[in-house]
Amino acid sequence: MTTLNLTDSPRPLGQSAISAFPIAYGCWRFAGTDVATARAKIETALEVGIDLFDQADVYGCDGGGEFGDSEALLGRVLHEAPSLRDQMKIATKGGIVLGVPYDSSPPALRSACEDSLKRLRIESIDLYQIHRPDFLAHPAATAQVLGELREEGKIREVGVSNYSPAQLSALQAHLPFDLITQQPEFSCWEISPLRDGVLDQCMERGLTPLAWSPLAGGRLFLSHDEVMTQERGPQLAVLIETLDGLAAEQEKSREAVALSWLLAHPAGVIPIIGTQDPARIRASLQALEVQWTRSRWNQVLEASQGVALP
Ligand SMILES: NC(=O)c1ccc[n+]([C@@H]2O[C@H](COP(=O)([O-])OP(=O)(O)OC[C@H]3O[C@@H](n4cnc5c(N)ncnc54)[C@H](OP(=O)(O)O)[C@@H]3O)[C@@H](O)[C@H]2O)c1
Repeated sequence: MTTLNLTDSPRPLGQSAISAFPIAYGCWRFAGTDVATARAKIETALEVGIDLFDQADVYGCDGGGEFGDSEALLGRVLHEAPSLRDQMKIATKGGIVLGVPYDSSPPALRSACEDSLKRLRIESIDLYQIHRPDFLAHPAATAQVLGELREEGKIREVGVSNYSPAQLSALQAHLPFDLITQQPEFSCWEISPLRDGVLDQCMERGLTPLAWSPLAGGRLFLSHDEVMTQERGPQLAVLIETLDGLAAEQEKSREAVALSWLLAHPAGVIPIIGTQDPARIRASLQALEVQWTRSRWNQVLEASQGVALP
């Protein structure tokens, strides 16, 4: 029986000079606290080795705050503790304009990027991602402004999020440099990237997939009653039971097994965890200790999709 081995070695981001710890920290739910609380989360992540931090200009709105709040809070942390910046790879995203809701035209992306730099209080963004595809932006125009921002040193590398493989190819065709990341929603509950070509394209082109909501945005931790009110509730219950069975076998947590299932995929997936609890940030590293065989990995897939593999 073949086993799938995981290590804590840094994973390269595409073909770039940037590499990152196999687990990243996401800042979607980060806004709405004081600087000391925010700083503790960043420092905990760095202490355990996590060095890639995923932001977006729009983060903050969902938590009852404002556009830019999450970046601004991270900016205040960096202002208070400037030495943290050197240990971090900072990714952010632009291209969402509230009420529009997408704008990847050159003027919109330029001002989004420059506003992110100001809020984050940094000179250069390590990874700039287009948050969602804008059907009204020609990829040549988007590529043009991304090239200029990179030439100006405002961004180091570029990635996309929620793009189909065809949309990614269209943008890549107009860029004079390689995209390095694609960021789909991917978890053992949201498994579409396995079959919609997103992960295949990452492996074909050597891009790194960054998985958003890798714990299904917390749905893996709902109570049984709450699970049963979810869409495909009974299937989610079976998935949770399967994760717990594997977790008990290896004396690991449910979340470790769920994150590890993503890490075991050959595309070199980096899950972006979103917990706001420093203890859970630390505990996420248990994911690297989970042992997989092909049959155990497929057991999780079968539980998630609700049918056996043929
Ligand atoms: N590109 C995009 O369109 C897009 C969209 C969404 C998200 N993202 C990125 O993905 C990152 C992660 O997304 P996410 O926050 O949805 O990720 P997630 O890690 O799947 O879910 C985090 C949620 O799960 C809860 N949770 C985690 N462990 C738990 C446990 N053991 N027991 C109970 N609850 C637990 C957390 O609550 P606690 O805080 O209480 O632990 C939090 O509410 C975001 O920060 C962002 O960077 C990108």
